Amino acid sequence: MKKCIFAFAVALVTLSCVSKNPYAESPNTMADYKLIPLPQQLEVRKGRMLLTENSCILTDAKLAKEAAFLKEYIELGSGLSLNVLETAPAKTPACIVLELDTTLTGEEAYRIDAGVERISVSARTAQGVFLGLQTLRQMILEVVNSAGKTDYVIPAALINDAPRFAYRGMHLDVGRHMFPLDFIKKYIDLLALHKMNRFHWHLTEDQGWRIEIKKYPKLTEVGAWRAETAIRKHFPDSGGENAEFKGDGKRYGGFYTQDEAREIVQYAADRHIIVIPEIDMPGHMLAALASYPELGNGTGPYEVGKWWGVFNQILAPKEETFRFLEDVLTEIMDIFPSEYIHIGGDEAPKKEWKESAQAQAVIKQLGLKDDIEASPVDGRKHSKEDKLQSYFISRIEKFVNSKGRQIIGWDEILEGGLAPNATVMSWRGTEGGIAAAKLGHKAIMTPGGYCYFDHYQDSIDAATQEPYFSICCLTTVERVYSYDPVPAELNPEQAQLIWGVQANLWTEYIPLTEQAEYMALPRMTALSEVAWTPVELKDYEAFKMRIASMRGILDKMNVNYAKHIFAGENN
Ligand code: ACM
Repeated sequence: MKKCIFAFAVALVTLSCVSKNPYAESPNTMADYKLIPLPQQLEVRKGRMLLTENSCILTDAKLAKEAAFLKEYIELGSGLSLNVLETAPAKTPACIVLELDTTLTGEEAYRIDAGVERISVSARTAQGVFLGLQTLRQMILEVVNSAGKTDYVIPAALINDAPRFAYRGMHLDVGRHMFPLDFIKKYIDLLALHKMNRFHWHLTEDQGWRIEIKKYPKLTEVGAWRAETAIRKHFPDSGGENAEFKGDGKRYGGFYTQDEAREIVQYAADRHIIVIPEIDMPGHMLAALASYPELGNGTGPYEVGKWWGVFNQILAPKEETFRFLEDVLTEIMDIFPSEYIHIGGDEAPKKEWKESAQAQAVIKQLGLKDDIEASPVDGRKHSKEDKLQSYFISRIEKFVNSKGRQIIGWDEILEGGLAPNATVMSWRGTEGGIAAAKLGHKAIMTPGGYCYFDHYQDSIDAATQEPYFSICCLTTVERVYSYDPVPAELNPEQAQLIWGVQANLWTEYIPLTEQAEYMALPRMTALSEVAWTPVELKDYEAFKMRIASMRGILDKMNVNYAKHIFAGENN
């Protein structure tokens, strides 16, 4: 009898719950799940959970941060403030349960089992749960109910998902233009939304040194400031008719303190994103040379760069320089726990090293010689100065490795011989990544023609050069979307060395945060699917339909995304 009463009570509670949810039997179709990146597996189910103020987030203490994020996402998406609970309440109409499940495999895999009264987001790790939440927040649908009011519902589904690539990155250049800490946080929020897990923070440039180094205070007293900035392309070597420098007359600069950088590291870590700092060497070091001219090849006086491009002035390959770089990297590794530290290596002209007695003496001492035959790696003959750069980078690598860390460098680090443990970031096309993988090294693909978000993103903008936030070229959202990071030239074993993909946002022509947002989005949205979704599931037309939910979230986050791909809308 007791059993009977209990069963009756359960039935009543169930009935009352169901009857409170007018969406319990709602049909769903694939079009109701506008998810980017598209998950590996999605099973459409009948019915929708109705979110109300009484809905709850049920979690265990190990997922407290994730639960707090979900609360924030639901509040942003619907205005509803859900209760976060650690034990199930007796009478709760609907609950989203976050749970760790060791039976699931993969550090970043997750499962969403979404029913009408209960949704579970489970993963082996907190990171997996967090990634699942990025999917779940896109599942919230806004519907108008029979009383003409808005309801927020989540369509039932079973989702099993995991990323295609382990490294999914976005870069930001703060050397050319610097952005406030709040914007760096917003950028990281955007990365999280797009299931990116690496933030490559390009901290040093010819035009500004942006990170406090306590042992070398002049880096920020002097190197963080430029006297003025070129107007558009009015500067020498701009390749146009504007070879005469025309500046804006405004001193420009700033830097992040170590405490601020640590705040960013923690902010990113809370979102399961690793910050990879870049200290670019031996080129792109004009700001450091202006601060400490003794590190140069005797070609001073040096001035923090006022225009863009590649400067001949680079670091001298001398002991004093190595001491300086080791000191800088020691402080950098103290701030940034990332296993990988980016040491640049790009665009370092060898003119000064060819003309410097000191550099030539090092070349002689090391016995470096010009190639007589083309290198089997890239089919090119490398100079003894290229080999000196290789020595330079290898020496830095040895130091970084001695601290238990690894280096990443731009693909120029292949020239003259790759440092033994280096990971290559392939930016001048895909050749660098291919060469690295063939040599048994890891590669991150970021080829200019697909992954440079400082390019125009629309043919009309490219033709009119407006808005003037771009350096050149045309890389549309569709072009980004079309990219497959695994080069056809690689065999399956080599293809395993393609660690992932990244897009770069260089900021020569991007002084303002809203411009940075315009350049980054929605190309970042396209990239997220390149980085995450199995290649056979990609479909650009479907992506354009699915972007609606992401767009809704971007609107709520006040993001100034470009609108070229939304038919009939102007920017
Ligand atoms: C680069 O774009 N110089 C890596």
